[in-house]
Amino acid sequence: MCGIVGYAGKREAAPILLDGLKRLEYRGYDSAGIAVQDGSTHDAKVLRKVGRVAQLEDALQRSMPQGITGISHTRWATHGVPSVGNAHPHADCTAAFHVVHNGIIENYATLREELKGRGHRFSSETDTEVMAHLVEECFRGTLEDAVAEALRRLRGTWAFAVISSRDPGKVVAARNSSPLLLAIGDNEHFVASDASAVLSATKKVVYLEDGEMAVLTYDGFRISDVDDIELRKRLVEIPWTLEEAEKGGHSHFMHKEIWEGPEVVHNALRGRIRTKEGMVKLGGLEEVQERLYRAERLVLTGMGTAFHAALLGEYFLEELAGIPAETEYAAEFRYKKTPVARNSVLLAVSQSGETADTLAALRKAREQGMLALGIVNVVGSTIARETDAGIYNHAGPEIGVASTKAFLSQVVVLLLTSLFLGKQRGMDMGLAKEILEELEKIPEKMRKILRQEDQIKELANHYAAFHDFLFIGRKFSAPVALEGALKLKEISYLHAEGYNAAEMKHGPIAMIDENFPTVAVVPDDMIRDKTLSNMEEIRARQGPILAIATEGDRKVAEVATDTFFVPKTHEMLTPLLTTVPLQLLSYHLGVSKGYDVDKPRNLAKSVTVE
Ligand code: AGP
Repeated sequence: MCGIVGYAGKREAAPILLDGLKRLEYRGYDSAGIAVQDGSTHDAKVLRKVGRVAQLEDALQRSMPQGITGISHTRWATHGVPSVGNAHPHADCTAAFHVVHNGIIENYATLREELKGRGHRFSSETDTEVMAHLVEECFRGTLEDAVAEALRRLRGTWAFAVISSRDPGKVVAARNSSPLLLAIGDNEHFVASDASAVLSATKKVVYLEDGEMAVLTYDGFRISDVDDIELRKRLVEIPWTLEEAEKGGHSHFMHKEIWEGPEVVHNALRGRIRTKEGMVKLGGLEEVQERLYRAERLVLTGMGTAFHAALLGEYFLEELAGIPAETEYAAEFRYKKTPVARNSVLLAVSQSGETADTLAALRKAREQGMLALGIVNVVGSTIARETDAGIYNHAGPEIGVASTKAFLSQVVVLLLTSLFLGKQRGMDMGLAKEILEELEKIPEKMRKILRQEDQIKELANHYAAFHDFLFIGRKFSAPVALEGALKLKEISYLHAEGYNAAEMKHGPIAMIDENFPTVAVVPDDMIRDKTLSNMEEIRARQGPILAIATEGDRKVAEVATDTFFVPKTHEMLTPLLTTVPLQLLSYHLGVSKGYDVDKPRNLAKSVTVE
């Protein structure tokens, strides 16, 4: 995700564009830039900085560009590490056209080679830059016609804002999958990724839909499709406060990020699967696939939520790729005296890419000659830069300290990695096809769970009186039990233990009584009956049970005190569904206790120290 702001009005554009970027920083913050059209020459004054918007603001204070038309961007890198050269706006060869973009141009590599073949000179590693050169090529008099023609050659997702010295005083915007709105002020018009960027100036907006374009000047705007058919759109009055708008209308970033789960799963899959053939394409692993083919052992590592995702990766790798796998806390791996098996691989999982223990484990693995891979969300982060190869989550910034959408993305990427390696090792391609077909249905099944949030909120109120919780599950549900317990601990500060249900008789059942509830993660999988037996033992000791079960499982509902049902799916994919009610449960328990669920006490988003 990135943040875009465009302005055409009667006021100086730079301060307005900067203020808008600050409101959009939650969408991405590895670099920021601005282009403002000079009032007389119409040439664009461009400034770009690595880091947060504050760095751009400092630079602008020293030389604020003058002009009433401009565009700006705060970046969440997808192609090309955070750098000034990769920061938006991007320009064509003549610096007459400037573009900011949110999304992914899937055919950028082909377009880039074609444009280079026609003499265009590129200055960044980004996919976005191809749009600037395409518009330059297509320009024959009006900027909107040039943009429309360029768009017809793109494949992928976008929200664009474009300005040109060759057609000054206007901003041309276009949307396809990435959010973009038009805001209507007095003698001024804006485009922005969301309402938070414009609310200080106006509440009147028009949401652009996929395939639509807008041309805005200080005194008017026109909305059309790419074939220049004018469209009549409904004006919307934004009901939110500025703070609510930054969270997209959600009360907290954590809530927003839980609700982003379906989109995050979709983004983790996008451009990486060919379901009909059961094939997975992971560009980041292709350069090391020979070494992966020879791998005899795979060590997964991470901390906290990433560690729980890694535990699931261990199951996936062994079941789908037949590779012996084990999961180690990074903090343990870094200090253990580990015999280095030939052809062993380390797979580090980290949302931030900056966790000190995980980075240290990675460095140790490389020193021992292991192939070091990473599954990371933050492009250009330290772990991402120090791995031999890896896969990005493309989950967008995760602002809430508690990891929610990142966990779901990590699970999807670990599944894809296991299918990718399984293909090399004689995996049953029918199973691969079945899993990919089911994966594509997960976003809608997640939305069905999210639509039942009120039921979970009611359960949270019912269980708020308890002080200690046990979370249990087996096989694919065991890491989910650990993750659910972690979420409850870090968001509601309640004591919660995650345990493999098989362990109950080996000790934990001694704790059970009417004051000690158990959350049982018991979807319809090959081990469900065993967990059901554990539930019956708990029930026999008056322990309250909240079960997370598969729709229609009446037997579980008879044994449990309360049951929340999730849609049926392949057993390997159940964590993607059973985790969501647990995230919402911890969220609502934390809110009911009046805690800051986005910034829980004592915690930091990234543990960059031991
Ligand atoms: C998760 O909710 C926690 N905030 C924490 O356990 C986190 O998962 C852990 O610190 C690892 O962070 P990373 O994924 O950025 O490496």
